[in-house]
Amino acid sequence: MTFLKLNSGAHMPALGLGTWRAEPGVVGDAVREAIRIGYRHIDCAAIYQNEKEIGSALSAAIADGDVKREDLWITSKLWNCNHLEDDVRPALENTLKDLQLEFLDLYLVHWPVAHKPGVVMPESVDDFLSPRQAPMEETWRAMEACRERGLTRHIGVSNFSARKIDAMLDYASIRPSVNQVEGHPYLAQTELLGWCKRNHVVVTAYSPLGSPDRPEMLQVKGEPTLLDDPRVAHIAEAYEATPGQVLIAWGLKRGTAVIPKSSNPERLKQNFAAAKLQLDDGDMQTLDSMDRGFRFIDGSFWTAEGSPYTLADLWDE
Ligand code: A2P
Repeated sequence: MTFLKLNSGAHMPALGLGTWRAEPGVVGDAVREAIRIGYRHIDCAAIYQNEKEIGSALSAAIADGDVKREDLWITSKLWNCNHLEDDVRPALENTLKDLQLEFLDLYLVHWPVAHKPGVVMPESVDDFLSPRQAPMEETWRAMEACRERGLTRHIGVSNFSARKIDAMLDYASIRPSVNQVEGHPYLAQTELLGWCKRNHVVVTAYSPLGSPDRPEMLQVKGEPTLLDDPRVAHIAEAYEATPGQVLIAWGLKRGTAVIPKSSNPERLKQNFAAAKLQLDDGDMQTLDSMDRGFRFIDGSFWTAEGSPYTLADLWDE
């Protein structure tokens, strides 16, 4: 298994299991099966609304001797309605309770976007808190306090631009260990990766397969389908691999952590085996050349007219 070294010196397994859209009644079995296959890194979030079932699966896997807690890497994320300083620790404690854990390995600020307390999904522009009303500095201070209390071993961010992390470095006593962002050949994020590498922030790539099952409201008519791209298929054929494996191998070879989601035992196995696939430089270049700056998760759900957040500010592009 490949590990990525974080700025603390700790090692995070590079290949993990994504759990967004892992359905109730199914996600628990998927986590158990993933652990049996050898996955040791499970990526969770409060907003996925499945942490309770994942917690039961983790607890059963540990009780049955499939895995030891210290060999697991569990990530979760602070939802947008809990950014105010006093709301951060209770949110993390709730996640720990659901996951039946005493500590997380990594806790991330899920988005650089804040909602009013209690607003899980904003329905109007009044449901947001602006960056001035919910300053990231306060949220981060509370994240740091959680780490100091031992509730999580590392803290980090998700969906943050280099500029936003750079701004945090002015006040952070604990630097973010990880930035989790969308990453696949249509959105290679090469500049962000370079910046993160220079600043000792490990990047985790989410939606590495192009998130084919994301909710319809997030899909755009006529969007490209990464898993069906003929360039990926052609490379897959040459290695007697599947397109999914090629996409995962590409992300791993670029030095990012990669967290494909699957609830299917065969695909879980297939995705795990992708860590052994070594793409040659020519194939890496072909995949690199597919970059088109295309976001499957473009954040437009935070940027309706009148919202304190705009797409330009969100991504700093
Ligand atoms: P399933 O859970 O039925 O396996 P992403 O990680 O980019 O969000 O993509 C997850 C989606 O891709 C899910 O719909 C998942 O379905 C599907 N998927 C996972 N692994 C593979 C694979 N190796 N080949 C094709 N589709 C896959």
